Amino acid sequence: MRDSGAIDVLVVGAGFGHEFLHLYREHPLVGEVGLCDLRADAVATLGAAYGLDAVYTSFEEALASTRWDAVHIATPVHLHVEQTLAVLATGRACASAVPMATTLDGIAKVMDAAAGGTYMMMETALYQREYLHALALRDSGALGRIGYLSGAHMQDLDGFPPYWMGYAPMQYATHIVAPLLGLAGAAAESVACLGSGTLLPSHAGDGSNPFPIESALFRLGGGLAAQVTMSFFENARSYTEGFNVYGDLGALEWPSVEGGPAVTYAAGPQDGARRGRPIERTELEVPDRLDTLPEELRGFTRPGMWTPAGLDPVRVEAWHGGSHPHLVHEFVSAVHAGRAPAIDARVAASVTAPGIVAHESALRGGVMLEVPGY
Ligand SMILES: NC(=O)c1ccc[n+]([C@@H]2O[C@H](COP(=O)([O-])OP(=O)(O)OC[C@H]3O[C@@H](n4cnc5c(N)ncnc54)[C@H](O)[C@@H]3O)[C@@H](O)[C@H]2O)c1
Repeated sequence: MRDSGAIDVLVVGAGFGHEFLHLYREHPLVGEVGLCDLRADAVATLGAAYGLDAVYTSFEEALASTRWDAVHIATPVHLHVEQTLAVLATGRACASAVPMATTLDGIAKVMDAAAGGTYMMMETALYQREYLHALALRDSGALGRIGYLSGAHMQDLDGFPPYWMGYAPMQYATHIVAPLLGLAGAAAESVACLGSGTLLPSHAGDGSNPFPIESALFRLGGGLAAQVTMSFFENARSYTEGFNVYGDLGALEWPSVEGGPAVTYAAGPQDGARRGRPIERTELEVPDRLDTLPEELRGFTRPGMWTPAGLDPVRVEAWHGGSHPHLVHEFVSAVHAGRAPAIDARVAASVTAPGIVAHESALRGGVMLEVPGY
């Protein structure tokens, strides 16, 4: 950390990772920003356009440098555990794109390594505007007692990099599991999951997962049930990655298409004049939650142009419900203050393990399996 208290951040992975560069550049508690990727052309282009302080084409070389207080990993999934362990072993703070791991053993390794350091899983779903709004509704009492939750992540991975072929959908379930558990305030205790459909040979990868789609029913603490569907191939549904939460006084349903309005429901009292309670349905443009962000990041929950000092303007996106500035702010603030981030290793494990166990259930024909607690 610099004398000023600012921290220097290295981003690893120029694909999804480049969506965070301008946020680190603008954050008031960040000093220098670097980028590492195997693709020399990508780091050179982004380094110049974003005014980065250093670029690398080797992860090992970047870690061997004496620079960087914190490293944000945004590389392919199969590298997350080994790169997280490598970062934590140098004493640096580590943020990792989801998922934390794809095996329970991988989770255990990261938890052990993170015990003496700082780890955060960059779960976008826990800072999307819809989730923040649903939390506010829950906390205001508008939902009443939550009785059921569901969610789905449907995305067509045709044409994605080869490592996605044959990927077990439930091993990427954190975007749905995390908000459902967060809203329920409960852990997943057990799960039964079925695979659905059959992967075409061109999508089968190494053949270890036969399912394009998996659907799971989780038993949560507190007597709740939650249903999660994950779909990566052979499904013509347009992209959706969201949840529904149902309470006895109110409910919220995710926009049926990306960018559309969410729907809220509010039940009035049963008045004897009809069967059932009157239920009001409202379409809602979900507001951004800006008050928790530093002034410098407030403009980045929506796409727009950003002008790095002394350079030409660049177009910056704001995918995943405006969550990226919140994730950066939480990670940087936690490292700066020497506290655990909101999505530390224990929280990350508790939202990653349920999907891993669900896939195991699907491979075993849908048997109910216990999910480890963390
Ligand atoms: N909403 C979300 O949270 C969200 C969204 C998109 C992607 N992701 C996650 O982010 C990660 C990256 O996604 P992506 O779409 O950019 O993947 P990608 O495969 O398109 O890009 C990964 C990048 O990492 C680089 N890379 C590979 N090995 C490397 C190494 N050893 N050292 C340095 N760089 C290396 C590649 O060259 C590539 O540029 C994935 O784990 C994905 O699951 C999360």
